[in-house]
Amino acid sequence: MPDPTVILAVDHLVKSFRIHHQKSNSLKQLIAGRGRNRYDDFLAVDDVTFDVHEGEVFGIIGQNGSGKSTLLKCMAGILQPNAGSVRVTRRMGALLELGAGFHPELSGRENVYLNAAILGMGRKEIALRFDEIVDFSGLHAFIDQPAKTYSSGMYVRLAFAVAINVDPQLLIVDEILAVGDVSFQRRCLEKFVEFRNEGRTIVLVTHDLGSVKSLCDRAIWLERGKAIDEGDPSDLVEAYTERMLGAEAPAADGSVRRGSGEIRITKVEMFVNGSAFAVKRCRTNDDVLLRLYYQAEKTMPQPVVGIEIQSLGGATVTAPNTRDVGMVPPTMWGSGAIDVSLSNVALLPGTYDIHTTVTDFNRALIYDHLREALRFDVMTGKPYETDGVVTMRPEWKLS
Ligand SMILES: Nc1ncnc2c1ncn2[C@@H]1O[C@H](COP(=O)(O)OP(=O)(O)OP(=O)(O)O)[C@@H](O)[C@H]1O
Ligand SMILES: [Mg+2]
Repeated sequence: MPDPTVILAVDHLVKSFRIHHQKSNSLKQLIAGRGRNRYDDFLAVDDVTFDVHEGEVFGIIGQNGSGKSTLLKCMAGILQPNAGSVRVTRRMGALLELGAGFHPELSGRENVYLNAAILGMGRKEIALRFDEIVDFSGLHAFIDQPAKTYSSGMYVRLAFAVAINVDPQLLIVDEILAVGDVSFQRRCLEKFVEFRNEGRTIVLVTHDLGSVKSLCDRAIWLERGKAIDEGDPSDLVEAYTERMLGAEAPAADGSVRRGSGEIRITKVEMFVNGSAFAVKRCRTNDDVLLRLYYQAEKTMPQPVVGIEIQSLGGATVTAPNTRDVGMVPPTMWGSGAIDVSLSNVALLPGTYDIHTTVTDFNRALIYDHLREALRFDVMTGKPYETDGVVTMRPEWKLS
């Protein structure tokens, strides 16, 4: 008797692709009966089993090519598995890889109808929701243009608008947060949270490990088509990050460096109140400038640079990065410096560490992670508070 709370059951799913090799014209091979129809079967999804329960947010993580998108396409019925099964007991909304489910020659409008129909919505029902779909997508002016003229961001907006407006009880989403612009990403996140609070179920594939930790109740980790681990998202993300980062390499100055190394932060310097001399201390309310020197071995596209300020062995006080503020350069190469200015520093007296990170745009590949790039002290300034890490600059009023 199946568990009624399970609304998606993936059972020993296998999906392989036939990879054809170049035909050989060699006479010897032809005579030998070889050289024709040579192929290998490549297992993209290799015997994967898991259940998703009603109301869960379920994450799927794994490196590029590990089979996540293929798995989702099997779940959405776009690909036929070779073996095993997928059982879905609720209406599903699917937002698959860019391109899947949309026809480039058809207009946005026609694609809305086509897509909603694939997801099981009748024509009348679609017509009733059409305006809402277009509103959510924000593509009013482009809705009668062919989809092939859309940018990837526009495309995702429309696909997402359809997926959520078919009123799905189960929403499956493949790596969407990386594509849209910041305001759209925020609306998607709000929608996810709203869906989750309404008790709907979400299956989320993403390289954004932060959102796996903050959004998901459970997750699996795919590697070369196999589910190698399943469980609590924080534990899973931690184990996954450890694996991706590889071994730690301690440096002479006590800092610890990890990452693949295409770009490195070689040094971090701190300047206070416009002075040209690098120092390692400041006061509360000083204007601080951090200069991150970098060295890129090759030209790397869209690197994201981040810093983390941590109180000595304690809490992360802040962890800004260039992607959050839309300041990602198209490429980075050679050497140079990046300045981060922090005016009227709110840190209270104590010792702090700065860690730096350089990643790819999805923040999945870590080029460089330097812990304790700079350790500095904050001395008493204004305002002064006996305890705590930051000041909120309180104004007290006695009445
Ligand atoms: N139509 C296809 N024909 C042949 N091989 C394919 C096909 N689709 C996917 N593959 C292969 O299957 C493997 C898994 O691909 P998939 O797109 O599922 O990975 P993924 O985990 O989604 O990766 P990413 O993180 O880059 O999105 C890859 O090796 C890919 O080359
Ligand atoms: Mg994919």
